[in-house]
Amino acid sequence: MTIKPLDLARLHEERFHGPPRWIVRAPGRVNLIGEHTDYNEGFVLPLAIDRAIWISLEPRDDSKVVVCSADFEQTGEFSLSGLRHQQQGWLEYLKGVAWSLQEAGYALKGWQGIVLGDVPRGAGLSSSAALEVAATRAFAAVSGWPWEPVLMARLGQRAENAWVGVNCGIMDQLISAAGREAHALLIDCRSLELTPVPFPQGIAVAILDTATRRGLVDSQYNERRASCEAAAKAFQVSALRDVAPARFQRESHRLDPMIARRAWHVISENQRTLAAAEAMRQGDVAALGRLMDESHESLRADYEVSSEALDTMVAAARAHPACRGARMTGAGFGGCAVAVINAASADDFRCRVAAEYQERTGHVPALYICRATEGAAAIAWNPVPRNPAAG
Ligand code: GLA
Repeated sequence: MTIKPLDLARLHEERFHGPPRWIVRAPGRVNLIGEHTDYNEGFVLPLAIDRAIWISLEPRDDSKVVVCSADFEQTGEFSLSGLRHQQQGWLEYLKGVAWSLQEAGYALKGWQGIVLGDVPRGAGLSSSAALEVAATRAFAAVSGWPWEPVLMARLGQRAENAWVGVNCGIMDQLISAAGREAHALLIDCRSLELTPVPFPQGIAVAILDTATRRGLVDSQYNERRASCEAAAKAFQVSALRDVAPARFQRESHRLDPMIARRAWHVISENQRTLAAAEAMRQGDVAALGRLMDESHESLRADYEVSSEALDTMVAAARAHPACRGARMTGAGFGGCAVAVINAASADDFRCRVAAEYQERTGHVPALYICRATEGAAAIAWNPVPRNPAAG
């Protein structure tokens, strides 16, 4: 499904009997390399993809937010004064964002609108971060403050950590807020410095959805974080970012072997991520692919967040001659892999890898070639006269 602003505006008119004032888009993401490094203040290299959460909205006179989710076919509402946790589900992400913005001192106005998205849920493509960033963008538009991507991403992350209760790092919200068309972003998760990195010529990025969804991900995720914190403490640094490979080699015998393996993944992954960004700048696709392959191996053997389905998908991708490198992406335990492939063979790659994976696992996968897009944006919607060019 490709979502078009004009279609969303029509839905809005049907539901609220008037046009929206803004249409907001916040993309999902795929991470090329730099996995489980963000909460260790390390480096990541994601891109914002051409799948997104969209919100149409118009201001309200009261302090309510009334939202209709076209995907869930549900309407929810809450008052901006006296926010309270009520249930699980999509509305809590919007409430969490309102809470986080208010905590940071922003005065919020009420609005009503429609949420619609085409980011697969639970697939490791950050549909929840996209929803948080879209909601943040909506509040910024209706309340009249400028869009500051880094600051807004941090407030979105705070919503996820403190309201939704998932202890994620900054990567997903930041790439959704600040992505650059045709580029990946090298993010320094300590300074939050963003460096756009262009794609080498002739290369496409394929997302390979295993059609398996991660179970127990939150507890496993938190357990990995705790191991990293224990390792940082043993090295007497504030984050594993500060442990150089040579120091690790000298001193790791002091660590519990499992903690040491976790730490080595993070330390080596930071090196790979910086090297991968450099390889992209140099147009060295062979080096980029090799680093992605090594990243998968490290996540599988040392960090232990892969799964049989992900390993099978990665193997199927690598067996295709167009594949230059492939790895699991996101938190792991299911969801998607990512591959860098020769663009000219993209169709053949999709068909053959999907068939191979299905034959080996019995799961029906979804494979798509993605484009790197801009981060979150709000379009001021001008309803009269109807202007198809705006759609
Ligand atoms: C999830 C989290 C991110 C990051 C990745 C793993 O997507 O939300 O912050 O930690 O896992 O790299």
